[in-house]
Amino acid sequence: MGSAVMDILADAWYIGASTNEIGDRPLARRVCNEPLVFFRGASGSIVALEDRCPHRKAPLSFGSVTNGEIACGYHGLRLNEQGICTWAPLQGNEPPRLAARKYPTVERFGFVFVWMGVTPPADTSGLPSWEFMEQGGWTDFRGYHYVRGHYQLVCDNLLDLTHLPFVHAETLGRMVDASLYLSPQKTWVEGDAVHTHRDAGSTSLRPMDPPEVAAGLPEGALIGRSQNSQFYSPSFVTVGFEGWREDQPENRFATHYVVNGVTPETSTSCHYFWAVVHRANPAAAEFYRNYHALTIKAFDEDQRMIEAQQARMLDDPAGGKLVDLSGDLASRHARGVVRRNLARPL
Ligand code: FES
Ligand SMILES: [Fe+2]
Repeated sequence: MGSAVMDILADAWYIGASTNEIGDRPLARRVCNEPLVFFRGASGSIVALEDRCPHRKAPLSFGSVTNGEIACGYHGLRLNEQGICTWAPLQGNEPPRLAARKYPTVERFGFVFVWMGVTPPADTSGLPSWEFMEQGGWTDFRGYHYVRGHYQLVCDNLLDLTHLPFVHAETLGRMVDASLYLSPQKTWVEGDAVHTHRDAGSTSLRPMDPPEVAAGLPEGALIGRSQNSQFYSPSFVTVGFEGWREDQPENRFATHYVVNGVTPETSTSCHYFWAVVHRANPAAAEFYRNYHALTIKAFDEDQRMIEAQQARMLDDPAGGKLVDLSGDLASRHARGVVRRNLARPL
């Protein structure tokens, strides 16, 4: 698999957790090969520390959180949200000058973003542009998949939707007409982003189209569609869908977005966080419940394929070299952007 195994950029924001995963107990999660522990600190913000006690290297995540400090489960050393030791019970003296490494974090869009680089981030401009998640009238459902595969294999999957009619023949594949993928796709690079746009013309209304698209139209009616993907280095992918009614081609509107953050765990595993962002429509609660279940099933299908693909790459005597087809242009650019950022001097 060559250098792709190692294409993990440290100087970047990654999704470390969903905000709602951080409760009363410490959360252990490995990111970019580093064991991290997440907890809510005394100031109320979510803290990420190296999950190694500075005393004897026990995982801090085996301990507990009290008043915004984490207590190691081995000999009770307490660390505050800066990672600094504030108390060493039963040691009979001042707290030792010990600290665990602290990683910068930002809470946004219901996720905890963590910065893995040694050089602190200049700002939060490396976060994905998911402002539409914060618009009034929009909501989302979301999920997490642990994937035993290199994170770029998940990005490839998201950037090349020609797999839909095959991997997802019984799930998401039913939402789109395969002919969509024969219409030309524009792909372009802009700084750290790769964009794609595909106008699909008109295809028939599907039972799984969001109700806002289908409103007032009979089954089988023609709907114009387009699909836009944005990749942001190193591993955020936003897929936006637009629709318009045949009789109102000038009236394009966003139907929904699928946002994805793919966080490397090791060079052969990743944490895949995703959310489907759609208009809030209480009348369609059941539709979106079904859509949520269908999405989980579909992403299970991706996971199965990607894990099997990774296993085949690892035991390939030919080195698991990948070949690009026309549908892989965006992935090729995405990998290029990450490689360029890896090569950038600090
Ligand atoms: S290893 Fe953590 S207190 Fe001893
Ligand atoms: Fe998929």
